[in-house]
Amino acid sequence: METIYIAFLGFGTVASGTYQVLKQQEEKIATSMACQVQVKKALLRNRGNYVKTAHHDFELVDSLDAILTDESITIVVEAMGGVDFAKDCIEAALKAGKHVVTANKILMAQNGEELTNLAQSQGLALYYEAAVAGGIPILESLRTSFRAEGLHSLSGIINGTSNYILSEMTDQGLSFEEALQAAKDKGFAETDPTNDIDGLDAARKLAILCRLAFGMTIPLDKMAIRGIDHVTSEDIKNTSTLGYLIKPLATAILDDDGALSVQVGPSLVPKNHQLATVTGPMNAIYTRGWASGEVMFYGPGTGALPTGNMVVADILKIVDALVHQEHIPALSRYHVPLNLSAADREIFANFYHFKLLDRDKGLFKLTALFEKYGASLNQLTPIGRHHVLAISQAMTWQDSKELIAEIENIDGISIDRIYPILGQ
Ligand SMILES: NC(=O)c1ccc[n+]([C@@H]2O[C@H](COP(=O)([O-])OP(=O)(O)OC[C@H]3O[C@@H](n4cnc5c(N)ncnc54)[C@H](OP(=O)(O)O)[C@@H]3O)[C@@H](O)[C@H]2O)c1
Repeated sequence: METIYIAFLGFGTVASGTYQVLKQQEEKIATSMACQVQVKKALLRNRGNYVKTAHHDFELVDSLDAILTDESITIVVEAMGGVDFAKDCIEAALKAGKHVVTANKILMAQNGEELTNLAQSQGLALYYEAAVAGGIPILESLRTSFRAEGLHSLSGIINGTSNYILSEMTDQGLSFEEALQAAKDKGFAETDPTNDIDGLDAARKLAILCRLAFGMTIPLDKMAIRGIDHVTSEDIKNTSTLGYLIKPLATAILDDDGALSVQVGPSLVPKNHQLATVTGPMNAIYTRGWASGEVMFYGPGTGALPTGNMVVADILKIVDALVHQEHIPALSRYHVPLNLSAADREIFANFYHFKLLDRDKGLFKLTALFEKYGASLNQLTPIGRHHVLAISQAMTWQDSKELIAEIENIDGISIDRIYPILGQ
């Protein structure tokens, strides 16, 4: 039986999960692929530590060349993270004729197009299923099952740390700081969780998803990105009163003219929506399509084995093509020019928490003002004598901006909080 050799760059959480799946499922892989897959080498920068702690049956090397010049190695798995060195390694591996699998979301969000072009020009694979929603096969589903689908929208809970924090605030009544500490204690947040909390991690994954789902490469500076750190226990309680949960959403909505609006940040989801059931560190991607209707992909977003399983799936896709001497399928050949919605076309409904010096007079003024913009205020709910919660009808982003500016100029009325509501 033929053996296909692979090499790891880095051997941490993802690589060790990948190795474990390959070892434990060795027989199933050999039977179903008619071929064996073996790890031959791993590039490590700290060989000494590793030798003392882990069992392995592959060679540990400390130079990339030891992998690139080894002609028996067909697939390189980049599992180090970071940008510059990982990019150099992937480029060098592709130029040396090796197929590449990576879980590196930062790199694939930033340089995915360029690296994919290089791989395609070499007739090689560059797969990165584990980079988005770790254990959920979303990229492959978009590539294959949704290839002909015209998706209207995609909404993802794709950062487990922020979902865990907001879930704990909702279910356990914890403050943001207490929920963050709980996430750290349980290993759902890194020591420095900045990019999880500020929305950047989800934005990177959304950029990758949009490339496959809508064929557009969206620079991160063109996305509206909000963090979850300003969400308070009071917001959770107030939005719940109106029948909503606050979820860390990454959303892309395509309008009828083919323009995409993208945003990342805490948003409201009706309590009876499928995304409301996605709690703790779990991830989900909910799509609405012309032909498929509503579909939700759900699963773990991190973890050695779930992520390793997706890396193995990418490896086996390459192995399959090699064994059957078939062309290596590109992850996507669908590209359209970047077309982002202008602010006067994006439409959102919002949750508002108003503070009113005189409730009755204030409400009268607010209702008239919203009507001027063609939107009514619904579910008006007084909280004490000076606070009112409400849901506005959907209106354009531009109109909401102007309306908010007008409200800010009215004496005795202020907006305490606004959250967008999951769009259609
Ligand atoms: N963890 C997850 O659940 C998960 C899920 C989805 C995607 N990802 C992505 O997968 C990638 C790897 O994540 P991970 O969690 O496995 O990281 P990790 O546990 O920190 O492992 C990274 C490994 O790469 C090695 N490494 C880093 N820089 C290196 C260099 N310059 N030369 C050689 N080796 C180097 C590290 O060595 P040292 O031990 O010496 O530091 C370590 O062995 C990242 O891009 C991450 O975003 C992770």
